[in-house]
Amino acid sequence: MQCLEVHNLEPLLIVHDAWCINKMIDQNTVQQIIDTADVVDVVSDFVALKRRGSNWVGLCPFHNDRTPSFYVSRSKQIYKCFSCGEAGSSVSFLMKHEQMSYPDALRYLAAKYHIEIKEREQTDEERTAQTERESMLIANEWACQWMEDQLWNTRDGQEIGLSYFRERGFSDATIRKFRLGYSPENRTALYDAATRQGYNREILFKLGLCKDDQHGGGYDFYRGRVMFPIFNVAGKVIAFGGRTLKKDDHAKYFNSPDSVIYDKSSSTMYGLFQAKRAIARQGKCFIVEGYADVISMHQAGFENVIASSGTALTDGHIHLLHRFTNNVTELFDGDAAGIRAAMKGIDKLLSHGLNIKVLLLPDGDDPDSYSRKHSSSEIQQYIDEHESDFIQFKTRVLLEGVHNDPIKQSEAITDVVKSIAVIPDAITRSVYAKECSRLFSVSEQMLLREIKKNIDRNKEEAFKQAERDKRRQEAREATLEPHDTPQPVEGPTTDTLPTPKSDKSPTISAAHREEREVARLIAKYGMCYLCDTEYEDGTRRPTTVVEYINSELTLDNLSFNDPTLANILNIALGELERFYQELPRVEQDASVRNQEACEREIRAIDPIGKSVDLLENEEKRIRSKYELKAMEQVNEFRQNFLERLLCSHPDDRVREMSCRMASERYQLSKIHTQYTHVVTEFERLPGLVASALNNLKLSIVLNRISSIKKQLKETTDYETVKKLLAEQQELALLNKELAKLTGERVLNP
Ligand code: CTP
Ligand code: MN
Repeated sequence: MQCLEVHNLEPLLIVHDAWCINKMIDQNTVQQIIDTADVVDVVSDFVALKRRGSNWVGLCPFHNDRTPSFYVSRSKQIYKCFSCGEAGSSVSFLMKHEQMSYPDALRYLAAKYHIEIKEREQTDEERTAQTERESMLIANEWACQWMEDQLWNTRDGQEIGLSYFRERGFSDATIRKFRLGYSPENRTALYDAATRQGYNREILFKLGLCKDDQHGGGYDFYRGRVMFPIFNVAGKVIAFGGRTLKKDDHAKYFNSPDSVIYDKSSSTMYGLFQAKRAIARQGKCFIVEGYADVISMHQAGFENVIASSGTALTDGHIHLLHRFTNNVTELFDGDAAGIRAAMKGIDKLLSHGLNIKVLLLPDGDDPDSYSRKHSSSEIQQYIDEHESDFIQFKTRVLLEGVHNDPIKQSEAITDVVKSIAVIPDAITRSVYAKECSRLFSVSEQMLLREIKKNIDRNKEEAFKQAERDKRRQEAREATLEPHDTPQPVEGPTTDTLPTPKSDKSPTISAAHREEREVARLIAKYGMCYLCDTEYEDGTRRPTTVVEYINSELTLDNLSFNDPTLANILNIALGELERFYQELPRVEQDASVRNQEACEREIRAIDPIGKSVDLLENEEKRIRSKYELKAMEQVNEFRQNFLERLLCSHPDDRVREMSCRMASERYQLSKIHTQYTHVVTEFERLPGLVASALNNLKLSIVLNRISSIKKQLKETTDYETVKKLLAEQQELALLNKELAKLTGERVLNP
């Protein structure tokens, strides 16, 4: 609000100048927050934790935990659930559990630990990077307010828009909660108001709010429609749906086009912002089809409801939803279309490991009409009585009226088996197999065999698809080569959802594994001392792990394929300067502190009855004990510096990947380690780094060799063949050398 008033004063100023979100939390404050926050403390505010050994344990808040599998480690500053695999830092805990945004999580921690937040202006670079995105968000926010204002405060708005909503049974509170609005019939009402306020017309076009009239002006897209703003998870308006009020209109809804701030297939699901707390609280979510369904259900007291908005569920939607819950119920009309829609969603949701149920309403009702006809307790009762798991649902639909037809029966079993086969978790699969066996009275063993066959077939299919994609991509590259560099087909993929591309092709996934190991060493030991490097000017300088790895990769002209891993390397390199600034202070501190303790202990030696030799030895022992202690403290700093930063990094993928890597080797030793000396990774660092790098290089070389082989088969051009053969020879040599270095590594073809 405040910001908008500023626009009024200086209408021609580009809007983002006045926008409060341009203030960034100063990096030193971020560092201080990350260093101060204690994960045990932070988690304890939401989960009851008990001490067990050096860890704290409790029931995992991210899945339905029966016995405590949620471990929090104070020394590592991470939590990890050994049952569902969730892992993270204080910051990621707040983001995930409380659905806070990154800056909000930092602000929460700052308040908890009484840290004063210093803000800074964005740099020019950050500003340009964010300008378009932010300007679009600001313009959308403005438009949303303007349309609300039209609805409540203009005559047309009240008589046409507001009365329509009220007739539909939406209460005023509901209308305000979902920020519904009205876009007047006047051809240029919004365009004029927006440009008068100084909003850039290109931005209005990109948002789809207005269209270019080709005469230097513009006109409104949503004329005469009632408006449903669409929010992202953080509550920013990223799109609109506009419903016509005319019976004969060719399109019931107009929706915003995809843009920098809105990707239909992954940005959000309708209602998620309003529903997310209820979803997390109830550990469950309903998916319905339309805007009106979400709104009416909310009004009826069912707030954990979201809509796919008429489009098929995508992997992006499900990934987003999965952040909030594992349990999803499809809530659709009982008509043919509703059943079809429910069927379509099932396998997709199952393949993401979600527990999926289906609830069909009596024929003729959608959630909107049903929830208006019935009281909350009637709705709840209907849910309790009719919600069925996907097997019961499929069985019922597929066997409707054909119970005695053996062919239909076997078709139904085949169908259910197919669905079970896409479930990633083996235990869940076997539970469903049992149920299916009971429902169809067929042997469980036979079902398990069929499921296994389906799994194998899916794998093969995915593999073939990956190969096809690869070939297509190569073909595309070949045709594009002289003019254009090919665009990556897909953005970075997160590794919680392996796409066939990264998962199924053995060479690719091998390379990825090696990459990941190198990145893990960077994240964990990046700032640790590795060796001294001699420079051209004759000086020797200590070199850290990340510097060493970086120079090795640069020398061989290699880089990480996975953008997130590449990003981790870049962040580590970017932090070096700050690290080297901090290091002397930490070393100094450690040395002074231990020196004092050391002198104290030496002074306290009781000399009576001891020989000079004995006394000298004792003194020596004490001194080396404290030297070691000081060194350990410095090493601890070196290890924590980067890992903590990465585990609380603003980039979602970097943070998630780092937390996962940090928690991977976090094993709980059953044996008391003080009795046996376990060689730690840290002690083996030089060897680890060298072999991880060699393995990575080797896998890249092998990859290139196999790609050359394939090209050789396909090309007939003599010059190309010659070139490829030369390259192949070179690579073969390299391969031999590397294989020698990596020792007895077994190479998978
Ligand atoms: N939808 C759309 N474009 C259309 C029709 C539908 O984008 N031409 C989307 C909207 O998100 C809509 C959803 O599909 O909410 C479900 O469609 P429908 O059931 O027809 O819409 P309702 O929201 O239920 O609309 P109403 O009850 O007002 O007719
Ligand atoms: Mn409807």
